Amino acid sequence: MSASHPYAQPMLRDNALQGKTIVVTGGGTGLGRAMTTYFLQLGANVVISSRKLEVLEKTAEELRQQTGNQGVLAVQCDVRKYDEVEALLRKTVETFGRVDVLLNNAAGNFISPTERLSHKAFDVIVDIVLKGSYNCTLAFGKHWIAEKQPGTILNIVTTYASVGSAFVVPSAAAKAGVLALTRSLAVEWAKYGIRSNAIAPGPFPTEGAWSRLFPEPLASKLDPAASVPLKRVGNHQELANLAAYLVSDFSAYMNGEVVTLDGGEWLNGAGEFNKLELLTPDMWDHIEKTMRR
Ligand code: HXC
Ligand code: NAP
Repeated sequence: MSASHPYAQPMLRDNALQGKTIVVTGGGTGLGRAMTTYFLQLGANVVISSRKLEVLEKTAEELRQQTGNQGVLAVQCDVRKYDEVEALLRKTVETFGRVDVLLNNAAGNFISPTERLSHKAFDVIVDIVLKGSYNCTLAFGKHWIAEKQPGTILNIVTTYASVGSAFVVPSAAAKAGVLALTRSLAVEWAKYGIRSNAIAPGPFPTEGAWSRLFPEPLASKLDPAASVPLKRVGNHQELANLAAYLVSDFSAYMNGEVVTLDGGEWLNGAGEFNKLELLTPDMWDHIEKTMRR
């Protein structure tokens, strides 16, 4: 995939996000980092948050260097804890004077036959994805309503949020909840000037997702691009371009939408991980051992 291809190029005009403050949960790694990079290049202030402060601070420093924008702040916050989410909001407003956008991007996931899961395994995923998203949504929404200030929410879901998928059932259930949150609040909070939209990405290689969704022996046997009609995985800039549009005022009339960005993958066979039906119990034993290590 060539870096000069149009889909690897920035899309919006310079300074398109100047004056906006954006909070990105899970912003220190993977797709959160890619979106943050582009928001900074477009002139926004960005607060990146997750559990690992060291990772966040390293990313923040690298992005200051890379983009020349000093307006990036690292704040530790476990989205499962409402008091930490409120502290994240306070710190953002103290530092930048306001907050305009909440990007619910933090997530947890692993593949497993559902009957092998304990109830705690369900909890850990649903708590990060669904509880984490509604904790942030509630805290930021209440703030915008109290301040009589407009706000924008962007939620990162998955294509299987709409259609379900075998072998990632806690994630599918939680992302479906986030999609329902997106569509419900698009109606209920529009009167406060708060828009809610979502992106459903197909496969975009990241260390976090690939290590948990394509561990060996899957990685060497299964090509994530094979089921994509366009026969390639996504480029991070493509997602960043769409996210920047959805958090910008250019998308002011878009509300309650989930935009799929997957090269046509889900239409080619809904349920991204349904194909894991082919794995034997021995292979699942091996995968579970690898992942837990
Ligand atoms: C079965 C498992 C398991 C596995 C953990 N558990 N891993 N069960 N198979 N592979 C169970 C444990 O046994 C435990 O239950 C419970 O889950 C909680 O375990 P912890 O030890 O607390 O969790 P831990 O393994 O430390 O962390 C799991 C995690 C972690 C929180 C999900 O991997 C994480 O921090 N992930 C964040 C990043 C991430 O996942 N990124 C990928 C997003 S990708 P018991 O009963 O034993 O106590 C994504 C994309 C989707 O969402 C679409 C892609 C195309
Ligand atoms: P990633 O790098 O693993 O991102 C997940 C992030 O969530 C990490 O930065 C992690 O940081 C953070 N996080 C996890 N638990 C948290 C918690 N309790 N509180 C706060 N932050 C927490 O994976 P990714 O691929 O970039 O995924 C980003 C988003 O895209 C997710 O919503 C994922 O579901 C979605 N997605 C990805 C793909 C793909 O192909 N990559 C496809 C569809 C959807 P800490 O560990 O520091 O907390």
